[in-house]
Order: sequence, then structure tokens, then C-alpha cells
Amino acid sequence: MIRAGITGVQGWVPPYILTNQELEKMVDTSDEWIVSRTGIHERHILKGEGLGTSDMGAEAVKLLLKKTGTNPEDVGLIICATVTPDMFFPATSSIIAYKTGLKNAFSFDMNAACSGLMYALVTGSKYVETGNFKKVIVVGTDKMSSITDYTKRETCILFGDAAGAFLLEPVEEEFGIKDFIFHGDGSGRVHLHMKAGGSLKPPSHETVDAHEHYIYQEGQAVFKFAVTRMADVSAEIMEKNHLKSEDIAYLVPHQANLRIIDATARRMGIGKEKVMINIDRYGNTTGATIPLCLWEWEDKLKKGDNLIIAAFGGGFTWGSVWVKWAY
Ligand code: UT7
Repeated sequence: MIRAGITGVQGWVPPYILTNQELEKMVDTSDEWIVSRTGIHERHILKGEGLGTSDMGAEAVKLLLKKTGTNPEDVGLIICATVTPDMFFPATSSIIAYKTGLKNAFSFDMNAACSGLMYALVTGSKYVETGNFKKVIVVGTDKMSSITDYTKRETCILFGDAAGAFLLEPVEEEFGIKDFIFHGDGSGRVHLHMKAGGSLKPPSHETVDAHEHYIYQEGQAVFKFAVTRMADVSAEIMEKNHLKSEDIAYLVPHQANLRIIDATARRMGIGKEKVMINIDRYGNTTGATIPLCLWEWEDKLKKGDNLIIAAFGGGFTWGSVWVKWAY
């Protein structure tokens, strides 16, 4: 069989840094509360007129192409995971493809909230496995600041803007994307959503006045699900593939809350040194968290390392992926 693997990873974060101290001046919060409840110290925000999610995604993809020596015209598919598309349509992936010269790629977006990138990674790998696609790009990019209400302390401390991209190619069979377990439960939509702007409640003066074009989250309810589901599914993929804790080089968790990450690592029986954590510097960047981690840890990774990627997000959506690092 043809096996797909990650053969390159690249992140991109906008330069502006929004610190907890700055947030203390905007809403009734404290650095101590934010750090103890979430692990976040600062996050990056995309500033500037006329800049959207595709601009960050395009930066990550351009750097990825350069770094891997990939001719843009050889890429056959680009999938973009995002909850903050430039526009409802066309797909943000097609805008990124245009901005990065992927003239021969077809493209589509994938929205599974914070699990979107993980779903897109596996979907992209399946195209490679058909043998019809030699190079596929998966990009996670979100301008979360565009749907964050900076008058609401419950949510405005959590999110940041960023992008990250993977190159997927055929690799030797023993490496690459080995297995995945995905779950979904649409009943979770009541706890985490954006109230207006979609077909259910199109935008109006009233929806704008009521601040309904922003993230709505019942934090505790989401936390309760996330903390058990992400830990369970990570243990489940290890058991299914007879992987012991000592076989795992790193857990690559979606970065929503340090306490959720810690619980997942505990359930897997692995120590902190084997967990990729950068939520302290970026916050929750939704589609970008996982590639941002792998990008920052890339130098430490060795060919053959077993990685467990795990995520939980709105929907609810959650799952885990077993990757054997291919380079
Ligand atoms: O990535 C997609 C999935 N999302 C997640 O996984 C997020 C899951 N949820 C969480 O991470 C946590 O629930 C939060 C970080 C969002 C909130 O932490 P929490 O420990 O669950 O706090 P809470 O919502 O239970 O609030 C506790 C208290 C409340 O005050 P009272 O009712 O006890 O007086 C809140 O009003 O903390 C208050 N509070 C704040 N205080 C200072 C809420 N936000 C803040 C804040 N600063 N920013």
C-alpha cells in the first residue's frame, strides 16, 4: 500500500503580541486567573486593514514550499481547516492556493472546529494513499480575533491568531500516518457556537447589537467533555495499536487549556517532557495549534518517533491520530 506521511511543517504567527497584562486593562481579569485556569500568558493577534485568515495561511504555505524545495505547481490538493474563513465562500483554501501559486491544485475547506486540522490531515493522507496525489498541503489557519468579543472575559483571554501547514507525500510504509480514531456528537453545539451570521440567524442590526457574531462558550460544560474525551481517545488509540507509554515520543495535543493537556498526558501515562505545549505563548489558535507544535519541536523529532496527535473541539468533535515521524 502507499502510505502518506508528513514531510514538512511550517508555522506562521503575526508579530503583534497581546499579553495578559494588556487584557487586564480591557476586562475584569488577572494574569494570575488566566495562567492558573488556562496556562496562557500571551497570544498573537493579526493587525492591519484588509488582512484575513488566508493571509496567514498563505505565509505558512509559502515558507513551507520554500523550506521543502517544493514547486508550487506540483501540489495537487490543498485542504484548509478553519472556522474563520475569509468569506463564507469561496473557500479560503482556494484563496490561499491563488496567493501561493498552486496552479494545479484543487482545494476545499474543512470545518470541524478545533478538530478540523486533525480531520484535514487524515483526509489529505487518504488522497496521497490513492496514488493519484504526490504532494498535498494541509493548512490550519484562524484569525480567532475576528470572532472574539473583547468585552467578554470568559472568552477573550483564550484565543489567538496563527497558521500552520503540513506537506504530505508518500513515505516508506512503516512511517507516516498509521491510524486514527475520530468521534462526533452534535448535541455539544449548544455549549460552543456562534449564534448569528449563518443561515439559521442571518446577520441583522439586532444580531450585531446583541454581540451574536462572536464565540459563545459555556466553558465548564465544554471543559467537562474535553477533559475526558481527549484523554480517553488518546488512550484508546494506544491500546488499539498496542503502544505502551514508553513507545510514545510525544503527545501533540490541541492547545485549548493546559489542564486538559495535563489530564490527557496523565491518562496516557507519559511525563511532561513528552508533551508539546506552547499554549503559554499562542493561546488557542484553533486550526493552527497542532502544526504550530510540530513546527516548534521539528528539530527534536527523529525518524520513527511515535507521536499521538489529539484534539477536541466544537460540535463536539474529537479524536486522535498515530503518526510515525517520517524524517
Ligand atoms: O478548543 C475548543 C474547546 N474549548 C475548550 O476546550 C475550553 C474548555 N473550557 C475551559 O478551558 C475552561 O472552562 C475556561 C478556561 C474557559 C474557564 O475556566 P473554568 O475554571 O471552567 O472557569 P469557570 O467558567 O467555571 O468560571 C469560574 C469563575 C466564574 O466566577 P464565579 O461564578 O465563580 O464568581 C467566572 O465568572 O471565574 C470567572 N471568570 C473569570 N475571572 C477572571 C471567567 N473568566 C474569567 C476571567 N478572569 N477571564
